[in-house]
Amino acid sequence: MNASAFDAPAAGREILARAEALARHSDSSGHYTRTWLTPAHRAAAAQIAGWMREAGMSVRTDGAGSVIGRYEGASPGARALATGSHFDSVRNGGRYDGVLGILVPLACVAALNARGERLPHAIEVIAFADEEGARFQTSFLASRAYLGRFDPALLERRDADGVRFDEAMRAAGLDPAAIAATPRDPGTLAAYVEVHIEQGPVLLEAGAPLGVVTAIAGGTRHRVTVDGVAGHAGTVPMASRRDALAAAAEMVLAVEARARTGGGLVGTVGLLEVRDGTGNVIPGHVEFTVDLRSGDDAVREAAERDVFARCEAIAAKRGVTVAVRRNHAVRATPCSPRLQALLAGSFEAVGAPVRRLASGAGHDAMVLAEATEVGMLFVRCGAGGVSHHPAESVTAEDAGLAAAALRTFLERFS
Ligand code: GLV
Ligand code: MN
Ligand code: MN
Repeated sequence: MNASAFDAPAAGREILARAEALARHSDSSGHYTRTWLTPAHRAAAAQIAGWMREAGMSVRTDGAGSVIGRYEGASPGARALATGSHFDSVRNGGRYDGVLGILVPLACVAALNARGERLPHAIEVIAFADEEGARFQTSFLASRAYLGRFDPALLERRDADGVRFDEAMRAAGLDPAAIAATPRDPGTLAAYVEVHIEQGPVLLEAGAPLGVVTAIAGGTRHRVTVDGVAGHAGTVPMASRRDALAAAAEMVLAVEARARTGGGLVGTVGLLEVRDGTGNVIPGHVEFTVDLRSGDDAVREAAERDVFARCEAIAAKRGVTVAVRRNHAVRATPCSPRLQALLAGSFEAVGAPVRRLASGAGHDAMVLAEATEVGMLFVRCGAGGVSHHPAESVTAEDAGLAAAALRTFLERFS
């Protein structure tokens, strides 16, 4: 296929229209929220599978509910260049985070299929069912399951409504016994490349529509539980209180203070719950999350030790107890220099400037990097670079350019 045969503007318009269509599959009206295995999530999976079939792909669903479309290469059974991203979302998130990395490659495969063209390698578009982990606090669940790295302890976890993980699977027609059973043989993968919205302002400020990702920051997520003593808000003297929320508040500020010490470190408490919280009851039980990230694993690990030592000290001072459960840890991931160079060449081929940048957000590519070489193509984020927010935006022009660049990349890859 030559470059002129690809109608990038039309592809861009279709990508945006499809992102709109997927956004209608939301767990709650008025929000864009799609969490693992809800009816909206399953409807989105069915929609994606339909588009994959239309693009000439064979489609399967794996044990975690991910949808995998395969477009055979010139010789059947060839190794696959895998590409994709996730179709779950954070609560009240944006329409492109994850979804763009499914829709852009779909546009490329549809164009190949329309011309009956086959490449030397197969292309697999993977729509990962759960990356954000908003429902069960399970980051990278689907990409881990894809590689056979599912943690069976998760089967007992419960969501905020008390629904057990394995029950949620059965309700969605998935077999809990099968989630770890069919790992992808890494030998059948040639590489993994992920298209993703940047989720920050770097490309926007540089005036660059596309970016080549150099590395992805590592991160850890913890769930912290603070137990104090609940009591009557009017009768317990201040000096006698063991208020779990006041202790947690001090811990939250300790996370922020430590994260401000530099080294590319960022720290966030994004969720805080007071069990049975009421205006006239001293909080007895509080849970919150801690998300720590840095491009330098040693910096992040040191911060992690400091933060939780500080939490212990705050708990001891206030007469409460604190327990920390690590839910997720992923090391900083360099992108393959070879794939970076191929992506840069593809940008040049479609007339886009080559801007390199690191990713502060986590991506499925971090897990795939345990099995094969990975590369990432970022697409400029509009609206000041906001993401994990309904205002997240991408232009049709940039989406079309990303598809044109990825098409060139797929063709040049060997
Ligand atoms: C994924 O969106 C992340 O939290 O980086
Ligand atoms: Mn995200
Ligand atoms: Mn994402």
